Amino acid sequence: MKKLVILISGRGSNLQALLEAKLPCRIAAVISNRADAEGLDIAKTHGIPVAVVEHGNYADRDSFDTALAQTIDVFNPDIVALAGFMRILSTGFVARYHGRLINIHPSLLPAYGGLNTHARALHDGVRIHGCTVHFVTPDLDHGPIIIQAAVPVLHDDTEQTLAARVLNEEHRIYPQAISWLCQGQIKLSGQGRVILLYRKQAGYALVSPSLE
Ligand code: GRF
Repeated sequence: MKKLVILISGRGSNLQALLEAKLPCRIAAVISNRADAEGLDIAKTHGIPVAVVEHGNYADRDSFDTALAQTIDVFNPDIVALAGFMRILSTGFVARYHGRLINIHPSLLPAYGGLNTHARALHDGVRIHGCTVHFVTPDLDHGPIIIQAAVPVLHDDTEQTLAARVLNEEHRIYPQAISWLCQGQIKLSGQGRVILLYRKQAGYALVSPSLE
């Protein structure tokens, strides 16, 4: 069975969704860059080994990334999943885990990379927003996309209501993406596109607001 290491920095709701999803792989460890990340308690409750690599203890990004990689490699994972991991990773780190390092981002990439995605979507008045699971590349929030979920933006949405609608979908698509990866159903094309093997895709549209 393939092994998964999950990196977190905070709340851990995606971690929880992954723990509850009965993935076809073993969650070997949860690693945080913050000792006070709530997600560490969620992992412990599920009997998952945890480790902390405090970024504040390292002089620069490269030394932190080296220590983080050493900690990850103890568990010899096939896949490393960022789940609310709030550190930018160096090119060397990303290269080390090429093709097996994935992230979940709360927007329909390539729109709204970076922070405050829900506030920015509301500000722009978009009618459709969502979330994305993608491979991590050195280009922040720009790696090959594995799966996305789109949600409508409602006229009376606040940042909180929109965030909650998106988060709900995050908890559905991240386990799906990881299951595909664990089962060898995902291939990266030479052009950096993700090919989903053995699966036909329905071709329907999400229209928001819906048509009459
Ligand atoms: C999620 O919205 C995720 O997309 C983003 O950070 C947030 C983490 O939330 N990268 P949680 O810690 O999984 O609850």
